[in-house]
Amino acid sequence: MNNKSSDTVWHHATVTRARREQLNGHKSAIVWFTGLSGAGKSTLAHAVEERLHQMSCRTFVFDGDNVRHGLCGDLDFSEEDRRENIRRIGEMAKLFVEAGVIALTAFISPFRADRLKVRNLTAPGEFIEIYCRCPIEVCEHRDVKGMYRRARAGEIRDFTGISSPYEEPENPELAIDTGSMPLDQCVDQVIGYLQGRGVIAKPQ
Ligand code: ADX
Repeated sequence: MNNKSSDTVWHHATVTRARREQLNGHKSAIVWFTGLSGAGKSTLAHAVEERLHQMSCRTFVFDGDNVRHGLCGDLDFSEEDRRENIRRIGEMAKLFVEAGVIALTAFISPFRADRLKVRNLTAPGEFIEIYCRCPIEVCEHRDVKGMYRRARAGEIRDFTGISSPYEEPENPELAIDTGSMPLDQCVDQVIGYLQGRGVIAKPQ
C-alpha cells in the first residue's frame, strides 16, 4: 500500500495504552479467529466476548459479514480484495489494541501471508491466532446461509473451500475443533488461554 500521507506528524497521547490497560484491569490484544465460512468463528467470537464482558473486560467483535456492509463494502472476494479486507481489519484491530480493548475478529482470512502481516503489526504475544477447525463437509452440511449450495451450483464465484483456497494456520496459538466440540468448551479453551498468557487475570 502506498503511503499517500507522508506529510503528517504522529501525535503522542498522554493517555497511553498502558494507562488504559491499568484502568481496565486487563491487557489488550487481538484475538483473531480464522476458518472456513460456517466453521463457527462469529459464534465463538461473540460467545467469548459475552464471557469476557461478564468478567468486566472491554471488548469488541469485528465480524466479516458486518464489516463488509460498511468499512469494506467496496471489496469483493477476489484475492486482492480479500487481502485489502484483512489489511483494513488488521489496522482497525490495532487501533482498538491501542484503545485498551480486547479486539476479537471473525474473518475467514484465508491467506497465511495476510494473517502474518497483521501479526507483524503487533508486539509478540499480542496477536492470538485461533484456528476454528471444522471439516468442510460439516460447514457444507450446516450451510447456515445457503452459500455452499449456491457455490456448488456455480452461483457464487471464488467461494472459500470450493473455488478459492483456504490456507490452514501452521502454528496458531490455539486450534479449536468447532465442528465437534460444544460451544461452552470452545469458549473455556479461549478464556483459559487468555488467562494463561496474562491478558486477563486468573480466577482467585
Ligand atoms: S475474507 O476471505 O475476506 O476473510 P470475510 O470473512 O470478510 O472473508 O467474509 C466471509 C463471509 O462472506 C462468509 O461467511 C459468507 O457469508 C460471505 N461470502 C460471500 N461470498 C463469499 C465467497 N466467495 N467466499 C467466502 N465467503 C463469501
